[in-house]
Amino acid sequence: MKNYKVAVAGATGAVGREMMKMLEALNFPISELRLLASSRSSGKKLLFKGKEITIEELSPEWIARNNVDMVIMSAGGSVSEKYSPMFRDKKIYVIDNSSAWRMDKNVPLIVPEINPETLSKDKYIIANPNCSTIQMVHALAPLHRAVPIKRIIAVTFQAVSGGGQKAILELEKESRKIVDGNFAEKKLSGSDFSPFPHQIAFNCIPQIDVFMENGFTKEEMKMVNETKKILDPRIAVSVTCVRVPIFRGHSEAVNVELSDNLSVGEVRRLLENEPGIKVIDDTASLKYPMAIDSDGKLETFVGRIRKDESRPNSLWMWIVSDNLLKGAALNAVQIAQKLIEII
Ligand code: A2P
Repeated sequence: MKNYKVAVAGATGAVGREMMKMLEALNFPISELRLLASSRSSGKKLLFKGKEITIEELSPEWIARNNVDMVIMSAGGSVSEKYSPMFRDKKIYVIDNSSAWRMDKNVPLIVPEINPETLSKDKYIIANPNCSTIQMVHALAPLHRAVPIKRIIAVTFQAVSGGGQKAILELEKESRKIVDGNFAEKKLSGSDFSPFPHQIAFNCIPQIDVFMENGFTKEEMKMVNETKKILDPRIAVSVTCVRVPIFRGHSEAVNVELSDNLSVGEVRRLLENEPGIKVIDDTASLKYPMAIDSDGKLETFVGRIRKDESRPNSLWMWIVSDNLLKGAALNAVQIAQKLIEII
């Protein structure tokens, strides 16, 4: 088997570090790994397979001077907008974790269990979907294959790590301040430096990313548009996204209306046969997926599968996954695995 020269861009970030772990865990065939970040991190070292690798600054000069087969990029939308076309022009594949390219019709948006056939040798920029989208479509694809889905209504409970390293530190800092201080006075005065619009500790914020003209947030519209692009544009989708004070693991309450009946038992069987899905649904023993149990796990977990008695052919389910793994780094490395099958 051929080994590949791989770069991880945004290697110091919350997702970038997981990218390195996933490359190792999935034993991706690497001949050389390069680590890229901003000038702030240049010269620092990170460990990969027990060996130190020095971080280099991502820059036009780096791209001009160096050659790799592919870049796994998790450095934010504006960085990707600037650098991905430079890599593409050198025929270097970019698997990008930002939202910069996802809705571009020439860019495949991939969940490897669902639509790997949309990858192609001549499409150098490949988009990794939004974390909340990935786990939802992963769990809904087997249902849609069996009986077409008409409508999806979802509410998300999203961990702070989706907002990057700064967001993780902010939850930790605010939580300490409250627990160490006067617990009764649990409202903190605002900080201009917070990555959140409000206090996140001991709170739920019904806003992720900016508001759009239609009253939905950008995160909510990402889920709507990406779900249609990956699963089927005919599906009606509506979502509310909520940031919750959890470090890792997104949870989603999802209501699905199908075009025909599927029993709960049939849904369970379809999910149990789907690669990467694990059903935990034993309410008699109080077993259902929870964010704390998903931390560090590769699967998408589904539970609380039940008929929605208010509407025909409809059901509810509860979907949980580690947003940094299947929601980001794992899915990206799985895309890379599919890519090397065709290049
Ligand atoms: P750095 O640590 O040097 O700032 P997170 O999502 O956790 O905030 O991480 C963002 C990642 O993107 C970090 O690795 C960060 O590197 C990297 N990054 C941010 N801005 C740039 C840039 N202009 N060029 C390259 N990498 C960047």
